[in-house]
Amino acid sequence: MVFNSWKQRKQSLVLLSVLLLLELQGTLPDGKSSQHSLLFCEDRLPQNVTIFGYARSKMTNEELRNMIIMNLTCKIDKRQNCNEKMDQFLKKCFCHSGQYSSEKHFMELDEKLKEKESGRSSNRLFYLAIPPSMFIDAVRCAKRSASSGNGWTRVIVEKPFGHDITSSREMTGCLKQYLTEDQIFRINHHMGEELVENLLVLRFSNLIFQPLWSRNYIRNVQFIFSEDFGAEKRGRYFDNYGIIRDIIQNHLLQILALFAMETPVSLAAEDIRNEKAKVLRSIRPVQLEDVVVGQYKDDGHGQGITSHGHPAYTDDPTVSTNSLTPTFAAATLFINNSRWDGVPFLMIAGKALHSKRVMEIRVQFRHVPGNLYNRNFGTDLDKATNELVLRVQPDEAIYLKINNKVPGLGMRLDLSHLNLLYKSMNERETPDAYGRLLLDAIEGERRLFIRSDELDAAWGVFSPLLKELEEKKIVPELYSYGSSGPAGVHYLAAKHSIRWGEFGDDP
Ligand code: BG6
Repeated sequence: MVFNSWKQRKQSLVLLSVLLLLELQGTLPDGKSSQHSLLFCEDRLPQNVTIFGYARSKMTNEELRNMIIMNLTCKIDKRQNCNEKMDQFLKKCFCHSGQYSSEKHFMELDEKLKEKESGRSSNRLFYLAIPPSMFIDAVRCAKRSASSGNGWTRVIVEKPFGHDITSSREMTGCLKQYLTEDQIFRINHHMGEELVENLLVLRFSNLIFQPLWSRNYIRNVQFIFSEDFGAEKRGRYFDNYGIIRDIIQNHLLQILALFAMETPVSLAAEDIRNEKAKVLRSIRPVQLEDVVVGQYKDDGHGQGITSHGHPAYTDDPTVSTNSLTPTFAAATLFINNSRWDGVPFLMIAGKALHSKRVMEIRVQFRHVPGNLYNRNFGTDLDKATNELVLRVQPDEAIYLKINNKVPGLGMRLDLSHLNLLYKSMNERETPDAYGRLLLDAIEGERRLFIRSDELDAAWGVFSPLLKELEEKKIVPELYSYGSSGPAGVHYLAAKHSIRWGEFGDDP
């Protein structure tokens, strides 16, 4: 059953069970349960909701609840009647221990769920927060032994969706032995960010941007992701995937698809996903000469209890000392269609960089032809071109850099910002990306989830490059922990006449 409106959903007597399959390592992964509790506090979940954590570790309901309490964010603490709400929420949380590949253990879970459902119709949402190697087994068991008998069953899966195009197709094939495409919700949490949703509003409901959105006015576009911490504690996972698979091939490429797609027929999920799939298929597979890879080394400040130095990537005991896995990559993509022909899309992602967590889209426009004010700009005309920045995180913002006369006598020009800082215009908390997507999955709203053909096209862009990097054992350029990344990125940007290096330092 799909709920058509909040009202209808809240009144519904249909029971919803959310089954969180968790790999527990002392904490809950990525605050997923705190998102449930936040939604619960805001009355956004169906009244009859039950949340089951399913994990291999033996754990009582009480222990799980204590773990949830420890993971709650201060967002919730600030609410009125918080304790009351939290008690109500915790009473809805239960734990079941079992193996991910045991149909018997899932049958036991089914029994517990049936007890809660007491014969009412019920929907079941499985959230697989487990290593991908266990997806298929868990889905098989869920389907055979614990799917809903009288409502819908949906499964949220989180990346990595395979390692390359072949393994991704294999995974899709296996999932589809047990589920239909409509039941699979491939989540990419950044698609739930406020600004990513707003990208479509910006593009399709503002006349001023529509005519500009093509090769005629846009010189290049940058998609930037940076973190000021390394792969610490996740070395084992990260070393198998690297930054291209971890960030560029999914997070950044999905946003690029929304940025560059044609106008969809409607806002319906399939119309949007059709356009995304089309534009992804139009991207030329990335060429090695358009790529720079880097890996962070230590910051030179020493390590040990008395120093505050940061280790190199390969100092992680779960990473091999001669690992060639990139922790930084920059790649220029080109879209072979009439709208974007020749426009470089520079994707940049790096860990252990100098700037805090940043995700941005920067759109650089062409020069003003025959600009009367050229001599006021000095020799670097690039500096005077307009730039539109969409900052996804931190502090969501949209701003446009425009040339402006500095007030006063004389004619001095300055690049000023037309700002739309979300924080200053919106008192309300910006919803969390995971929270939004969980709600979408409950509602059956699929537009922000990745369809299998989109996934296939996305792998098509990067699989040949990844194979070449690995077969030729391309050695990443080393950069210091906390620096701005490998120098090679400046050459790559210059090769495509891209002004680069200003990310994260604007209002
Ligand atoms: C994950 C990546 O998908 O996103 C991580 O696997 C990365 O490497 C994380 O750190 C970033 O997400 P957020 O929401 O913390 O910016």
